Amino acid sequence: MKILITGGGGFVGSHLSEALLARGDEVYILEPGGTQKVRHLLGHPRFRIVRDSVMSHDILDSLIAQVDLVYHLAAVVGVEHYVGDPYEVLNVNVNGTQNVLKVAYKYGRKVVFSSTSEVYGRNPKLPWSEDDDRVLGSTRIDRWCYSTSKAVGEHFCFAYHKLGLPVTITRYFNVYGPRLDKIDVGRIITIFMGQLLRGEPLTVIGDGLQTRCFTYVDDAVAATIAAGVGPGTDGQVFNIGTDVETSILDLAKLMIDISGSPSTIRFVSKEEVYGNSYEDIARRVPDNTRMRKILGVEAETPLRDGLARTIEWFRTQ
Ligand SMILES: NC(=O)c1ccc[n+]([C@@H]2O[C@H](COP(=O)([O-])OP(=O)(O)OC[C@H]3O[C@@H](n4cnc5c(N)ncnc54)[C@H](O)[C@@H]3O)[C@@H](O)[C@H]2O)c1
Repeated sequence: MKILITGGGGFVGSHLSEALLARGDEVYILEPGGTQKVRHLLGHPRFRIVRDSVMSHDILDSLIAQVDLVYHLAAVVGVEHYVGDPYEVLNVNVNGTQNVLKVAYKYGRKVVFSSTSEVYGRNPKLPWSEDDDRVLGSTRIDRWCYSTSKAVGEHFCFAYHKLGLPVTITRYFNVYGPRLDKIDVGRIITIFMGQLLRGEPLTVIGDGLQTRCFTYVDDAVAATIAAGVGPGTDGQVFNIGTDVETSILDLAKLMIDISGSPSTIRFVSKEEVYGNSYEDIARRVPDNTRMRKILGVEAETPLRDGLARTIEWFRTQ
């Protein structure tokens, strides 16, 4: 198949590109950012990169006309953006998604939209199944803009599906692995990674008892591929993740243990890190029955194994 991945130069996109190339697919990526994460694929005969944006209608038109399937991963991702540049989060994540869907509809191409566990907000009922409620805070709190931007994207997906477009939504739960983000920025594992590799204390926010379900990227990619090419997926939304909960404190301890680093743990307040416009979510757990039953994928990589591979990769960089 010919496949377009928007935001394909990002973390998930780089792994998805590799997996699709290994299947024999032809992969186009649309990526305005750096190409570091896909530099090892640049000479591949079935891999092409277009250095442009989902905000460009003409580029989307020329690319989507040529492909069979679109994975729409392009987004402004990362807490620093949600609280630092909410305009760009909303603009790219809402308007960019609408652009992709509009062109895909014109050519009748299936779209797989990358959404997030953040759409459930702070719904206290756990685990979250796909049809559960969204429970969010005030629009005066910038951190909810990402959740809202992805939820609007989902509404557009369902609206286009009603018009006849094949669309599938994947909601990822804390996917991690090699090439995640730069150390010290982005997500919790890369923030801990920088501290770990320098032997500094790992800064745990609050009491560290907030949990996440850390999902190894290979498992997430297997589910993503099935969402695009497997049967019974059109018009569906899937939680993509393991249901094994890990506290942030245990994550920090495990990373120290695996790496043999002399790092210790230092507790900091969330205000110290994010200021007042951030609200943390205590627990996040997916009901992943649909992923296992319809996509036929188990998120089975143990955290210790996935972290060991991730730490090793960052060490060699
Ligand atoms: N990794 C996770 O745990 C996780 C969790 C929930 C949701 N997601 C979603 O999965 C997708 C991929 O996430 P990721 O972890 O690879 O993040 P990432 O930030 O590494 O990848 C996103 C990519 O989109 C690109 N991008 C930004 N603006 C763009 C634009 N205007 N046009 C084209 N590309 C643009 C970025 O440069 C980046 O390479 C995102 O949509 C994200 O919201 C990921």
